[in-house]
Amino acid sequence: MTPELQDLFAFLSFPSVSTDSNHKSDVRDCANWIVGKLSAAGMDTQLHETPGNPIVVARNAHKADRKTVLIYGHYDVQPVDPLNLWDSPPFAPEIRNGKIWARGSTDNKGQMLAHILGVEKTLAEKGELPVNIILLFEGEEEIGSPNLAPFLEKHKAELACDIIAISDTGMVAPNTGTLGYGLRGIACCEVKITGPARDLHSGIFGGAVANPATAVARLVSSLHLPDGTVAIEGFYDDVRPLEPWEREMWAKVPGVSDEDYLKVTGSPATFGEPGYNSAERVFARPTAEVNGIGGGYQGEGSKTVIPAEAFVKFSFRLVPDQDPKTILQQVKAHLEKHCPPGVKLEIEIGHDGKPYACDPHSDFGKAAQRALKRTFPGEPMLIREGGSIPIVQAFRDILGVDTLLLGLALADAQIHSPNENFPIENFEAGIRLNQALLEELAADAS
Ligand code: BES
Ligand code: ZN
Repeated sequence: MTPELQDLFAFLSFPSVSTDSNHKSDVRDCANWIVGKLSAAGMDTQLHETPGNPIVVARNAHKADRKTVLIYGHYDVQPVDPLNLWDSPPFAPEIRNGKIWARGSTDNKGQMLAHILGVEKTLAEKGELPVNIILLFEGEEEIGSPNLAPFLEKHKAELACDIIAISDTGMVAPNTGTLGYGLRGIACCEVKITGPARDLHSGIFGGAVANPATAVARLVSSLHLPDGTVAIEGFYDDVRPLEPWEREMWAKVPGVSDEDYLKVTGSPATFGEPGYNSAERVFARPTAEVNGIGGGYQGEGSKTVIPAEAFVKFSFRLVPDQDPKTILQQVKAHLEKHCPPGVKLEIEIGHDGKPYACDPHSDFGKAAQRALKRTFPGEPMLIREGGSIPIVQAFRDILGVDTLLLGLALADAQIHSPNENFPIENFEAGIRLNQALLEELAADAS
């Protein structure tokens, strides 16, 4: 095994699950491993405590006449459940069919480590980087980065930079350079419906009181029109329409046709807002999703009860220029209006992050495209991303800097799912991409 893969295996073996407080010390151990790695590469490295998980910042010796590039990544991962569907243990990485199988292999440890190793390699080969670099790694991205924006505010001066680069997004098809110039935002909330003081016999009491599970179902069905349009009042008010050049460009992007979405999802049909194809819906239109729903008897056979409570977890994917706080207000008003009588509605507001879009044809955007062209065959593909990285718009709001998204995640990487994987060739390409990127950003005349 190459030393690079050995590093990746070590990094992947930490169960750094940020959603689960049982993994607090694993998350910290993982952060300390990164500190060790960066210090050994000769970077000036600090571990910063936050009210949550640590933030790691590293830099080379900065010089006044060079561009400053900030590279961001996250070392936390999503939970592994359902564990029984994994073909190999999620934190014991394995190589099969040219891919590394482990939780975090693509999202985001493999992509993040590729940047670190690119920097390390350039330093070993040339003794110097072409730019001033700041590496910023957090352990709370998967829970909405609650402590990173305050950290940016506090350390604004030390984090001043010209451009930010992240590899934590998609690559449209294998070996295809992909520059993301947008991300969807997100807004989450959870609804709890309570009814009777305890589960009731549905024969003795059915008909006399409202059923919380039915109320949840009514709320869920009130969110969309039958054709897939979101039915919340005002939801589309601030949506920036798709540009004709984007539609034209995306029609030529490999890997994102309706057929591709059918194949990779395993769904029997595509479905969504009328008037748009799958890629347009994902890249540039907002959605309302149910992420979890429950209430009542879940065991074998039937149990005739009216459950005392039921719940649903919602998230809304947002596009420029929707504001998550405004959307959550509209959602709240909608739920209050549509909640059927006879039950009590509680809404718990969750985390949120703003949507983001920038100009892929800016000088830095062009530099990123040159780096992608040096690393992958053909012209780079320019897309907006359906996923969210909540801190990216905060980078612009607080540091005043745009972000280049150089994604290496394939559609079948199974991020957030069992059997997450990352091709070795993407890992190796990521290392070369970092080296090319820093050179091109340094060369850029802006
Ligand atoms: N790396 C993903 C985001 C992503 C993946 C963007 C693929 C584009 C393509 C990131 O780690 C992620 O999962 N973000 C969460 C954010 C949320 C938990 C606040 C998301 O999008 O669900
Ligand atoms: Zn993720």
